[in-house]
Amino acid sequence: MIQQDTICAIEWLEDGLRLLDQRVLPRNEASILIRDVAGVADAIREMVVRGAPAIGITAAYGVVLAARSRYAESPEHWKELLEGDLQLLFAARPTAINLAWALDRMRSRARGVEGDPGQVLAAEACAIHEEDIRVNRHMGALGADELGSGVSILTHCNTGSLATGGYGTALGVIRSARQAGKLERVYADETRPWLQGARLTAWELERDGIPVTLLVDGAAASLMQQGQVQWVIVGADRIAGNGDVANKIGTYSLAVAARYHGVKFMVVAPTSTVDMSLDNGGRIPIECRPADEVLNLAGVPVAAEGADAWNPVFDITPAGLIDVIVTERGVVKQPDPARMADMMSSRSFGF
Ligand code: MRU
Repeated sequence: MIQQDTICAIEWLEDGLRLLDQRVLPRNEASILIRDVAGVADAIREMVVRGAPAIGITAAYGVVLAARSRYAESPEHWKELLEGDLQLLFAARPTAINLAWALDRMRSRARGVEGDPGQVLAAEACAIHEEDIRVNRHMGALGADELGSGVSILTHCNTGSLATGGYGTALGVIRSARQAGKLERVYADETRPWLQGARLTAWELERDGIPVTLLVDGAAASLMQQGQVQWVIVGADRIAGNGDVANKIGTYSLAVAARYHGVKFMVVAPTSTVDMSLDNGGRIPIECRPADEVLNLAGVPVAAEGADAWNPVFDITPAGLIDVIVTERGVVKQPDPARMADMMSSRSFGF
């Protein structure tokens, strides 16, 4: 039996939060222990932890640390004081809606607490974490059902255990397809500039004994032209009400190339990634990170001195280029506003 998931990126301890430092993987498997909310916000901003669901889960634990400290500071006014901490966490990264989703859920739980909030909020954050793993396993099965046998898949960025509570979204479908005996080969884009594909996806798949072939981002269209893949499967940072998807920069070009070459395109994300308040993807804020991330590689300057760089880290894939969106509430084919609304109003599995 294949071991499905051997990685624990986020671990709640009684005295703090332990995060696997994703900036230094795969060379170093180092963790950092964080004991306060400012440290949690820094870890999200600085990419110690990344991936939309993982950011949300981490922020939820950050709220526990903040609430404990605010309650110690003022048992009468901790709820008002906590608002500033929620804002700090909210501002850490703008595109992944899972961050705001998790903070809203923690805020609602905090509102109802009488007395010391520590245990109640820790239980809520753990519930968010555990639900994410269950949701991912369910989406893995739903997504794998959509695939034929002997399928080769191209994926982008990292959407696995490192990017979620565990198992993964797009990588969860790949894990499930492998278990169902449907998987021929996985190709992973290296995913410039942070190399989430080369460093993180390849590391996760190798640990699970799933062979992976890396390619530079610019090789993806040629791979499709040669008929080497039948599906592109990716995650999402935010999905608008019409099915437009914000995901790691380069996703949009994959979707354009996939449509041109007749390759199917699947997006896998929990409903905590869906933002029905936005009627199209053009309204999703896109994070732009420092030019240094493009001008340097692993800390070494590689660009000509004096060059500037444009570094948007997400892009928008229009719904019209997406064949299937998989969430824990079901599969949306040819997404549009009505189908998205239908899916969102259907009963969530198991909760
Ligand atoms: O900048 P990152 O590494 O946080 O970007 C991550 C992605 O774009 C993922 O595809 C997305 O968050 C889905 S992870 C399940």
